[in-house]
Amino acid sequence: MTAEVLRLPSREPLPEERPVLVVDLGGQYSQLIARRVREARVYSELVSHAVTPDEVRARNPYALILSGGPASVYADGAPHVDPALFELGVPTLGICYGMQLMAQDLGGRVDRTGVSEFGKTSLETDGEGALFTGLPAEQTVWMSHRDSVVAPPAGSRVVAGSPSAPIAAFEDPARGLYGVQFHPEVVHTPYGQDVLKNFLYGIADAPPAWTPAAVIEEQVERIRAQVGSDRVLCGLSGGVDSAVAALLVYKAVGDQLTCVFVDHGLMRENEGEQVVETFGGHFHVPLVAVDAEERFLTRLAGVEEPEAKRMIVGEEFIRVFEEEAAKLGDVRWLVQGTLYSDVIESGGTEGVAAKIKSHHNVGGLPADMKMGLVEPLRLLFKDEVRRVGEELGLPDRWVWRQPFPGPGLSIRIIGEVTRERLELLRAADAILQEEVRKAGLYRELWQSFAVLPAIRSVGVQGDERTYAYPIVIRAVTSEDAMTADWARLPYELLDTISSRIVNEIPGINRVALDISSKPPSTIEWE
Ligand code: XMP
Repeated sequence: MTAEVLRLPSREPLPEERPVLVVDLGGQYSQLIARRVREARVYSELVSHAVTPDEVRARNPYALILSGGPASVYADGAPHVDPALFELGVPTLGICYGMQLMAQDLGGRVDRTGVSEFGKTSLETDGEGALFTGLPAEQTVWMSHRDSVVAPPAGSRVVAGSPSAPIAAFEDPARGLYGVQFHPEVVHTPYGQDVLKNFLYGIADAPPAWTPAAVIEEQVERIRAQVGSDRVLCGLSGGVDSAVAALLVYKAVGDQLTCVFVDHGLMRENEGEQVVETFGGHFHVPLVAVDAEERFLTRLAGVEEPEAKRMIVGEEFIRVFEEEAAKLGDVRWLVQGTLYSDVIESGGTEGVAAKIKSHHNVGGLPADMKMGLVEPLRLLFKDEVRRVGEELGLPDRWVWRQPFPGPGLSIRIIGEVTRERLELLRAADAILQEEVRKAGLYRELWQSFAVLPAIRSVGVQGDERTYAYPIVIRAVTSEDAMTADWARLPYELLDTISSRIVNEIPGINRVALDISSKPPSTIEWE
């Protein structure tokens, strides 16, 4: 009797299983390098320079990229890598400090030549380097270094130079070692992304497979494996992170998920309704929406101090959330929208034992709930979360929503939060949002919103004297909210917003524009 041979189902390895590892040598651009690699659709992770050859081997990476760093390779305490990393046969690209470290470890030489380069400079290639395939022989690059490589690693070839750094790039294809003195990851190096792609696709053979669809497939599989047939709870805030996290979990385990949306009454116009319509109505995600406006406003009555407001909203939020969770019975897992940048910031790249901060995405979730965490966005940068959201069918308005603080409008009303004052602010904010969107500026701005101060001023409308509140327009540009500049909104737009607000909202008789940057101001007024 002949036995039939049955093939076991096999699948393509998921893109995340073979990463490009970006070795962090302390440079300000390390995270940016990881993001650029992902923009080339290759999955990448940031790892500490203390990473061991065994750890690297275990990840089977397509490539290593050594980041820049502020130190001189000769300085005391300068970060180093285990030189055995260069013997693994993994294609390796050193950038700036990373390049100098390779030179130092591999038989070349690094010196302080007395010539530093900071800023744009012109790079000339010899036309034969694999890093520069298809690129012009002369190009502008961004440099930032004091030390220079004065002798490349033994066996490598110099393929590009700049006026002040004759050895600006070297290659050793036989050993898979590559170095560039300039920063391909910054926008000031116009062909930088092409250099990275040449390295990733041409040299390291990494396929551009890290797409939103692949991320979704990967995460769905992970979530299923993690939660099995248990029930899962997810708090929705109206923001993009919690929405994308919820949709991923829903795709993975369907009705095992229950979403809870606590409407604290401090949302902007129609926001609460949109959560209910989109999640309950459109996506059919099991949703508990709690109208807790009364509760929040009662607790906020008479409170004027900003931090006191924050505390009250945070505490009350947790209370309501816990009450609802308790009603659901046995729920084992809680979804959190932790992002990769949170993981990095909290030292997640320092090694396996590093403590990851619990991220309070939805205005502060219960710390002592005895549930395991499901963190489907843990590997993603914010822009990737948005692309995954688009792929999952989340409406554009949601995907591209500007950040909105957990305590909501309560910290945009100076002084006491009352229903009447909330209504004034909400109406003014809705006009502002509508006009900013109409002007096509919504996505360019980090945040744009209205603030209601606690003063009144005299005005005149018709023949009548008014004594009413002003509205302050706040619009900023920013990369990460750490610093911000006030946005130069066009006068015509400001004019339209101002006249609509004073004409359409009784109770407002003046509009002012906030022209402060952060620092010394903050983005929010409280
Ligand atoms: P500031 O006002 O400090 O704000 O320049 C920086 C960024 O953080 C947001 N923000 C908050 N987000 N809870 C939040 O969830 C808060 O209490 C809070 N305060 C400020 C703010 O909107 C801006 O994006």
